[in-house]
Amino acid sequence: MTMIGQPINRVDGPLKVTGRATYAYEQWDVGQPLYGFIVGATIGRGRIARIDTSRAERSSGVRLVMTYRNAPPQGRPDTTLFSSYARARPTLSGPDLHHYGEPVALVVAETFEQARAAAKFVKVDYALEPGHYDFAARQEQAYAPKNVRGLWPTDTAVGDFDSAFNAAAVKVDQHYTTPYVFSQPLEPHACVAAWRGDELTVYVCTQVVDAARTALASTLQIDSQRVHVVSPFIGGGFGSKLGIHSETILAALAARQLKQPVKVAMTRQQIFHLVGMRPTSSQRVRLGADRDGRLVAIAHEVNMSTSPVEEYTEQTAITTRSLYAAPHRVTRHRLTPVDFQPAEDVRAPGEAPGLLAVESAMDELADALAMDPIELRIRNEPTLDPERGVPFSDRRLVECMREGARRFGWEHRPTRPASRRDGRWLVGYGMAAAIRMHFQGQTKVKVRLAPNGTAAVCTDMTDIGTGTYTILTQVAAERLGLPIDRVQVELGRSGFPVSSGSGGSWGAGNSSVATHRACEVLRDQLRVSARNDPRSPLHGLDPAGAVFSGGCLTIGGASEALTELLARNHPEGLEAEGEIGSMRDDPNYLAHSIHTYGAHFAEVGVDADTGEIRLRRMLGVFSAGRILNAKTARSQLIGAMSWGVSAALHEQAVVDTRSGAFVNRDLAEYLVPVHADIPQLDAIVLDGFDDKANVLGVKGLGELGICGAGAAIANAVFNATGVRVRDFPITLDKVLPGLPLLDG
Ligand code: MOS
Repeated sequence: MTMIGQPINRVDGPLKVTGRATYAYEQWDVGQPLYGFIVGATIGRGRIARIDTSRAERSSGVRLVMTYRNAPPQGRPDTTLFSSYARARPTLSGPDLHHYGEPVALVVAETFEQARAAAKFVKVDYALEPGHYDFAARQEQAYAPKNVRGLWPTDTAVGDFDSAFNAAAVKVDQHYTTPYVFSQPLEPHACVAAWRGDELTVYVCTQVVDAARTALASTLQIDSQRVHVVSPFIGGGFGSKLGIHSETILAALAARQLKQPVKVAMTRQQIFHLVGMRPTSSQRVRLGADRDGRLVAIAHEVNMSTSPVEEYTEQTAITTRSLYAAPHRVTRHRLTPVDFQPAEDVRAPGEAPGLLAVESAMDELADALAMDPIELRIRNEPTLDPERGVPFSDRRLVECMREGARRFGWEHRPTRPASRRDGRWLVGYGMAAAIRMHFQGQTKVKVRLAPNGTAAVCTDMTDIGTGTYTILTQVAAERLGLPIDRVQVELGRSGFPVSSGSGGSWGAGNSSVATHRACEVLRDQLRVSARNDPRSPLHGLDPAGAVFSGGCLTIGGASEALTELLARNHPEGLEAEGEIGSMRDDPNYLAHSIHTYGAHFAEVGVDADTGEIRLRRMLGVFSAGRILNAKTARSQLIGAMSWGVSAALHEQAVVDTRSGAFVNRDLAEYLVPVHADIPQLDAIVLDGFDDKANVLGVKGLGELGICGAGAAIANAVFNATGVRVRDFPITLDKVLPGLPLLDG
């Protein structure tokens, strides 16, 4: 039976639900730890004029108060390193402060409570310097970054946009804004650091083990071989654990100095200032079409916030280059410096905010044309990637829209906005397209077949809750013909074969293909052994027809258990490595536009009197090549769609423009959807295989579900009310003034 694709339960599920999966902060094997608590700056920009730690140092249980005055020298970030997540992160390295909440001290004590209590006694006098915290007011300061993340050009232009747009029969020209948002993993950022001699072991939640190792080694200025990163279980990441943060650096520094393990975890509030956010954006979208709805001109111009200290450019207009056909096109990225912590990737960096704007604009165009939004998109379906001019590997956007329309009952949508009422609710339908790039990165996996016929898969790839343990079990089980319970997957440790980690939705593709290839090598060796072994019933048979199944190797009518074949030929077991290379060296990725696609459908109700918006149901239909596990794939998609609901209706980190603080920095005030906000929501995946992506035909889908999801909700709100909100999230105060007056 084929194992790939089966909706099997997570193999690590029982460990998690019984509390036996050990997360970073729960690591007790290291010996008696000390506890660190980070003290953050209460100004947005300036310097420490005076810092008095004496009272904190005298507090009960306190063993160390580390500030810039006694912190050891640390490495500087090497900006030539392609991955910003592998760069040094010096912490407490000087009196200058660049953002609110920046660490000014670490208090280490015998208990967590002692450390937290003493932290209050660290007295800091600040020399305040004027900071810039108001993105909207600073937009004239925008500049063009050199490129977008070293991967894409900052701007593109095809044809003559201005003339074509001016001459277009129907036009949309609108601005959309999206707020600062933060990943909120259930497990806050945490680390236990333990030194043995000059060897450092960190138990830390990280999405990319090798980047964590490099970043730590260069910060601490030690050989990376002396840094050991352990990250077997991670309670969510969403991009916020692609890199390491101050808790890890400070735990390592303090543990070295105190010669005792040190634990540091962020509080939920600290996450809002010690971890990077999705930058806020202002986006102008211009669409020009003829009366039949054929786009003649597309422009997507993006301005986003950046830290002046460390530039980050979200790839917000990149998929606009591939999404719809139009002969005249412009895309543009600009950055406006504001004094917050450096931004970091947040799930579907780029597409998530970009599609909120573009897919809202497409809905506005459909409305202006009085055309069905699906029909509009189908009319603008390109045959080649519109800007690269290369063929698509596997583009099934139209199929996703048609299948979704059928399942959702799209034909019942109110064609006129604000025309349907259900009691006090104004009811509307909305849809949006989803597109996301597929990435591929260097990854190695080792598979070892033991003499007892069990297989061990081993890589430093992580499972951030996405299901890596499970899918790699399935891939190895299928390829080696073993039952699931005879495959063991070990992840998340430096020293294991190096992967590109979990991020960018590339982890499943990378690690499954590398696992598959390692298994291929083992299969070849076993087939050769069988053919050459006079004692094997398979001796001399043509290995071309060999089948691996049920723990046996079978050729025609002859069969032998792998354990017997191994016992005679490989009594020590067999081991092989499999590898996948970077997309940059892969001709398929140069010759094709490789993306995943989807279509979202939403029905909302808007209270006619109060403007309260309730999602009533939502459906996503997706195409992402071959699916490795139908259950974990669906979990990823419905989780991401829920985040799309959040982006449309709930989530925003609110800035105090006087201090540079995010004022709603906890989960009481920073709204994310709860179960009551997510009623009927489903994700369907079209069965597929992208033969250009890789040998298994798989593509990533962790981020696909958020792409466009929020726009479907926004479009449904418009359909329900006739009110178009372009400033996300869509809260009731923005809808209320435009609601139709009904029944007198
Ligand atoms: Mo994802 S934002 O690349 O972890």
